[in-house]
Amino acid sequence: MTALTIDDLKVLAKRRVPKMFFDYADSGAYTEGTYRANEEDFGRIKLRQRVLVDMSNRSLESTMIGQKVSMPVALAPTGLTGMQHADGEMLAAQAAEAFGVPFTLSTMSICSIEDVASVTSKPFWFQLYVMQDRDFVLNLIDRAKAAKCSALVLTLDLQILGQRHKDIRNGLSAPPKFTPKHIWQMATRPGWCMKMLGTERRTFRNIVGHAKSVTDLSSLSVWTTEQFDPQLSWKDVAWIKERWGGPLILKGILDPEDARMAADSGADAIIVSNHGGRQLDGAHSSISMLPRIVDAVGDKIEVHLDGGIRSGQDVLKAVALGAKGTYIGRPFLYGLGAMGKLGVTRALEIIRKELDVTMALCGKRDIADVGRDIIADYRD
Ligand code: FNR
Repeated sequence: MTALTIDDLKVLAKRRVPKMFFDYADSGAYTEGTYRANEEDFGRIKLRQRVLVDMSNRSLESTMIGQKVSMPVALAPTGLTGMQHADGEMLAAQAAEAFGVPFTLSTMSICSIEDVASVTSKPFWFQLYVMQDRDFVLNLIDRAKAAKCSALVLTLDLQILGQRHKDIRNGLSAPPKFTPKHIWQMATRPGWCMKMLGTERRTFRNIVGHAKSVTDLSSLSVWTTEQFDPQLSWKDVAWIKERWGGPLILKGILDPEDARMAADSGADAIIVSNHGGRQLDGAHSSISMLPRIVDAVGDKIEVHLDGGIRSGQDVLKAVALGAKGTYIGRPFLYGLGAMGKLGVTRALEIIRKELDVTMALCGKRDIADVGRDIIADYRD
């Protein structure tokens, strides 16, 4: 099957990745209402078709926090990426680097900051979860600096963990504890298994050996469930900004009030995000909140968006509504699960082609000129 769409990659990934890990990516919190809304709300936005406009010599090049990108799309931080495909974070980072878009490594990744740095030559971005063990957090920040990461993405919307029923039904824990059911799921995916057996990177390498109390898989399991900090506050953002000293992006803003506080915090950008519908079920979709947030703070801070982007049309709509950059999570995970590095490249190619054609048919040649005027009947 030739993958023409992100959905095609999803079908291929489902065939190749063991069920518990495929479901881990393809799930949202509780009823999954917000997860679905993220995608569906893009479909409600209509574009204006324009004709007889010069559509030659088009450009999708842009910047995110002042850094050049070949199109305004970055890879979102995703935990356990190395379980969609062996060495997943390293492969995705290489694909993003070759494509000229940012890769963001999650704190909860399988491959470590150092693993990714060892296979890339340009800087990548690092996503930070603030754990209660602040020494561990400080050490992570220092490791990201040592690896020359060019932005810190601080995630704010996971002070406590949202619940995904599929993970519980599948018995998926962090780190994975393997039962006979899991072993069967893996055994029926021999391609995935062979690659996984061929790598040493099968557990959370940013954490094991770095966090004080984590020496093995079972202590890691206890640590991950207890360590997210329910008391995280704007004061923490201030000290992290100071300790990091580089470009800071605040991820997980969905309310104009929080966006105003984020703009006052001195961060370089915010990501309008509901964690891909994995945290607050019942929240608005990211794209439906974007215009209000842009109106509130768009003149003070760069606004990015993630959640529900499944095509270049979606990227164009987000840019038109004021996002300087966008991120894809599941689309690149499906590509990775389906075909490793090639699949991540394929996901990016699909989105770039769709973005280019759609922009042209809206009568625009340069992504920098895309604004609310390309949205049909735009209303707040
Ligand atoms: C995530 N997301 C996430 N975010 C984050 O800041 N740190 C993390 O470790 C993770 N882990 C994670 C795992 C998986 C499997 C998914 C799907 C998502 C959220 C992610 O960065 C992003 O906000 C969403 O994925 C965007 O929505 P789409 O593109 O997946 O619809």
